[in-house]
Amino acid sequence: MGMDMAKRTKVVKERQLKKKEQEKVRILISRGRLQRRITEMAREIRKDFPGEPLHLVGVLKGAVFFLTDLGKQISGDVSFDFIAVSSYGAGTHTSGQVRLTRDLDSSIEGKTVIVVEDILDTGMTLQYLLRVFEQRKPKRLRVAVLLDKPERRIAAVHADYVGFTIPNEFVIGYGLDYAERYRNMPDVGVLSLGSEGK
Ligand code: IMP
Ligand code: MG
Repeated sequence: MGMDMAKRTKVVKERQLKKKEQEKVRILISRGRLQRRITEMAREIRKDFPGEPLHLVGVLKGAVFFLTDLGKQISGDVSFDFIAVSSYGAGTHTSGQVRLTRDLDSSIEGKTVIVVEDILDTGMTLQYLLRVFEQRKPKRLRVAVLLDKPERRIAAVHADYVGFTIPNEFVIGYGLDYAERYRNMPDVGVLSLGSEGK
C-alpha cells in the first residue's frame, strides 16, 4: 500500500485548492448588457409569432437563468419545459458525445417550440436535440441561444435568435459552469486556468 486514505485526501484537496487559486475571471458581458439584449430578443420572438402560444424548452442546467429572464420578457401565452443532456465532462473540452439524461414532461406535437440554450459551441448538442425534437412533430421549431462561438462549429446547425457572438474563449457565469462552479455569477466572464489548469 502507498499513501493512506487521509493523506491521499489531503494531497487531492491541496491540488484542487492550488488549481482554484490559478483561475482568473474577466468579465465579458455585464449583467446590464445581458438583460438589455434579452429584452430585445424577447420582443423579436414575440414579433415573429404574434398571438401564438410559445413553448420554451430549456436545456438544463446552463440555460436556466436565460430561460427565466427571457420567458418573463415575452408577452402573451408562454409555457416552459426542460430537457437535460450531458455532453461535457468536468473540464472545458467536449467529448463530442451527447446523451439525453432527462426528457421533457409533455409532448411538443403541434406546438411552436423555442429551444433555449446557453451557448452554441461545436453545435453537437443542438444538432442532437433538433433531431430528437423534429421526430416529435412540433408545429414549428426555433432556436434561441444566449451565446454563439461560431469559430468552434463542427455541426451545421443554425440558431434563429442569438444574444451575443463571442470569440473562442471558455466562458462562465449566468448559468454557464466550469466543473459545476460559477453558474451563479450574474455576468458572463472568460475563465483562464493559469499555467497548471490546462
Ligand atoms: P456544443 O455541443 O459543443 O455546441 O456545446 C454546447 C454545450 O457545451 C453548452 O450547452 C454548454 O453546456 C457547454 N459549453 C460550450 N462552451 C462552453 C463554454 O465556453 N463555457 C461553458 N460551457 C460551455
Ligand atoms: Mg448547456
